[in-house]
Amino acid sequence: MAPEIMKGLKDVYLDTTESSFIDGQEGKLLYRGYNIHDLAEKSTFEEVIYLLLYGNLPSKEQLAEFDVHLKANRRIPDEVIQVLELVKNSHPMDALRTGISAMSAFDPEVTDNSVDATIRKGIRLTAMGPTIVAAHHRLRQGLEPVAPNPDLNHAGNFLYMLFGEVPDQETTNLLDVDFILHAEHGANASAFGARVAASTISDLHSAVVTGVGVLKGPAHGGAAEEVMKMALEIGQPENAEEYCRNILDNGGRIMGFGHRVYKAEDPRARHLRDRSRALGEKLGEPRWFQILNYVEEEVMVRYRSRGIFVNVDFFAGSIYYLLDIPDDLFISIFALGRIPGWTLQCAEQYDDNILIRPLLEYSGEMDLEYVPIEQR
Ligand code: SDX
Repeated sequence: MAPEIMKGLKDVYLDTTESSFIDGQEGKLLYRGYNIHDLAEKSTFEEVIYLLLYGNLPSKEQLAEFDVHLKANRRIPDEVIQVLELVKNSHPMDALRTGISAMSAFDPEVTDNSVDATIRKGIRLTAMGPTIVAAHHRLRQGLEPVAPNPDLNHAGNFLYMLFGEVPDQETTNLLDVDFILHAEHGANASAFGARVAASTISDLHSAVVTGVGVLKGPAHGGAAEEVMKMALEIGQPENAEEYCRNILDNGGRIMGFGHRVYKAEDPRARHLRDRSRALGEKLGEPRWFQILNYVEEEVMVRYRSRGIFVNVDFFAGSIYYLLDIPDDLFISIFALGRIPGWTLQCAEQYDDNILIRPLLEYSGEMDLEYVPIEQR
């Protein structure tokens, strides 16, 4: 009897986890038991990294100590800068993937796959990730990389290294919330890829490189860039209906909508929707939010009955665009936020490991006779 094929591993549970709870019907997300709405509005990315990797919210003293540790690990070796110079014309995600690979040559614990070493390495990669992305962005413009600034938090320092000037607090806060919202999300495709690498007892650097490679696809992390491209092509809210219809009537997808798990609104979306609207109004550029709002409220509203709602990527791109962040960096920002989540998923895999190796049902020819080439 032919086995049941679970294509795309849809609805397949591969393990238990204490990382995050996702209720796709309700549109609910918890990180280590804490609601994403509380974390987005009341926490910081540094506190969320601590929560994810250590499993509890830090005291003031613990967070202060952790913050010193994160800042102390932002610098990358000159050799890695040289590698980034060699690949300066690559896509920022390829540069991040290459930079993390190169970092494996400089991490003293690279082959230690204990949970504790994994957490320590994940913290270092989380701290260095922004430095890799920003250094590459400076080098590809023919500029010198900007050294990390210990006076700035994780988000503010990333913007500082990217643009060479200290960002205002509101801009820093926008990116801080964005990192929080992208930090962890269960067995998403990139975390699954990282878990597969960890399940063979490969190292965290290899697993995070795998995660970066998987996240790059537009069906996963690449959507925010595609959403902003769509908004630019639509140009004005009144064009949105026809533009989207052309895509949908030809079986296409509207980027930033739909989700394998959420069949209600992605709870992360509201925190970016509100900020996209506010930023557009503050900068006198309401048009982009108006276009996205029209797509969501007038066009895609009809898809809600089919469980297709906006996801975390729909409004993120408009915020990055309004902050003058180049569109090919949008997905790198997602990756930088997700390094703690990938680390946690790998730590859980190492802690109670089994090789992840599903099956494929063979549907080809059977037992063919081998005919020598002279007779073919
Ligand atoms: C992320 O998994 C995670 O947790 C990911 C993530 C995370 O934090 O890690 O949440 C981040 O990746 C968010 C998703 C970003 N991607 C996009 O926005 C790309 C556009 N979305 C689609 O490609 C799609 O919704 C997926 C890939 C996200 C999910 O696809 P599924 O679960 O495989 O669902 P499906 O492709 O089988 O679609 C089911 C139906 C289809 O219609 P029918 O063929 O049954 O008639 O819904 C339709 C699809 O055509 N559909 C859409 C749609 N998404 C699904 N129709 C129009 N526009 C869309 N965006």
